[in-house]
Amino acid sequence: MLPIQRPPLPLNEQDRLEKLQQYQILDTDAEQPFDDLTALAAYVCGTPIAFVSLVDASRQWVKSRVGLEVTEIARELSFCAHALSQPDKVMIVPNTLEDERFATNPFVTSTPNIRFYAGAPLITPDGFVLGTLCVIDLVPRDLSPEKIAALQALSRQVISQMELRINLARLKYQIHQCYDTEKVLRGTNQRLTQILKKLRQTQVQLIQSEKMSSLGQLIAGIAHEINNPLNFIDGNLNHVSIYVKDLLNLLCLYQNYERNPNAEIQHQAEVIDVNFLAEDLPKVISSMQMGTERIIQIVQSLRNFSRLDEAEKKPANIHEGIDNTLLILQHRLKHTEQRPEIQIIKEYGDLPDVECYAAQLNQVFMNILNNSVDAIEESFFNSQSPLAAKSKGQIWIRTELGQNYIVVKITDNGAGIPEAIQKRIFDPFFTSKPIGKGTGLGLSISYQIIVEKHKGTLSYNWSLD
Ligand SMILES: Nc1ncnc2c1ncn2[C@@H]1O[C@H](COP(=O)(O)OP(=O)(O)OP(=O)(O)O)[C@@H](O)[C@H]1O
Ligand SMILES: [Mg+2]
Repeated sequence: MLPIQRPPLPLNEQDRLEKLQQYQILDTDAEQPFDDLTALAAYVCGTPIAFVSLVDASRQWVKSRVGLEVTEIARELSFCAHALSQPDKVMIVPNTLEDERFATNPFVTSTPNIRFYAGAPLITPDGFVLGTLCVIDLVPRDLSPEKIAALQALSRQVISQMELRINLARLKYQIHQCYDTEKVLRGTNQRLTQILKKLRQTQVQLIQSEKMSSLGQLIAGIAHEINNPLNFIDGNLNHVSIYVKDLLNLLCLYQNYERNPNAEIQHQAEVIDVNFLAEDLPKVISSMQMGTERIIQIVQSLRNFSRLDEAEKKPANIHEGIDNTLLILQHRLKHTEQRPEIQIIKEYGDLPDVECYAAQLNQVFMNILNNSVDAIEESFFNSQSPLAAKSKGQIWIRTELGQNYIVVKITDNGAGIPEAIQKRIFDPFFTSKPIGKGTGLGLSISYQIIVEKHKGTLSYNWSLD
């Protein structure tokens, strides 16, 4: 018996094998398009068996099959491996028993007893033969030129399908890469946005702390400067009061014992209306004392408001903070030509001292109360607003004690915050006020102080409850 003839190796075998790897198709699952083309080949050629096979270094691997359940065949026994060497035509073996290459092949000599073989090469666009689309019969026979042409056309479809498949895989890979890149970009973008936000916050904080520290220093300086002469006046007023009392007593004694003063004294007494003077002078002094006490209170409030010395959290009386702030805002509440006085309605709850940065909380109260005054003034300006009818500006300040928090509600009867801008009021530099009037920092700073520094919440509520 003749030995089996090993199929010859194509000249470009190494490159061909590399090309085959690139298609990433070996050992993959069945796919409908290949199965359809294989079935079509068997049908067109009228054979019971057909394969789409690819030949790698050691075997013929079958991608799709009709009529014979086989997955791979050793390369030396492969019919298709012979077809690789004649890329320009369909390899036809009309009778395997009469072909010395296959007569002793075990697939010929025993089951399935192949007798007829026709394999159309699968040629890549750049000319590599990767395998065949072949049809097999168990009886010797031939193929008409039309069927050969059809088999070739189908083999081109198999290659197209392989191209499609690899392009699809590449596309998927690229999409995946795009997706990854987009993810990275989105991450970078997010980080940049955060950095930007942080930068703006820092900027706001810098501006504000600069603004507040100079305001605080100014207030503390003025309070200090007023304090000395004030103590001087306050201290001396007591003496003045006693001296005046003594002098008036003495005057009284004179009047009692000197019944007939000389004409000049009598004339002068009438000119100055000595009786009225003696009656009014103690009153004047006592109102001067009251006025001085009031100034002392104001100076004390100014010092409390600035509280420059307090960098640490300390227990503080919130109501005192609000009152001190109101005192500083006093000039804004007074009656003006454009509007009547703004009334402050305090509804203070029973609050314990609260651990806080008192000076910063005072800033918050000041920012919010200033906004209320602005809003009320604007409402007065706008004659259509309901406030004009009421013709009275009012600000309510309510405090309540919660479980482990306190609530401060500041409400005004201005026109309210238009819905369109409600979402933006805490944004740094957002202002609806004319240029030069608002910096748009008040609420964003207040937000930072309440939310970040004190872990509280700062919110806006439309309803008047
Ligand atoms: N009580 C309020 N009534 C109506 N609108 C308000 C009130 N409080 C704030 N707003 C709106 O929110 C905006 C932002 O307030 P914010 O205090 O941050 O800035 P501003 O008052 O405009 O300027 P700044 O306080 O820096 O001088 C205001 O311009 C205003 O439109
Ligand atoms: Mg403001």
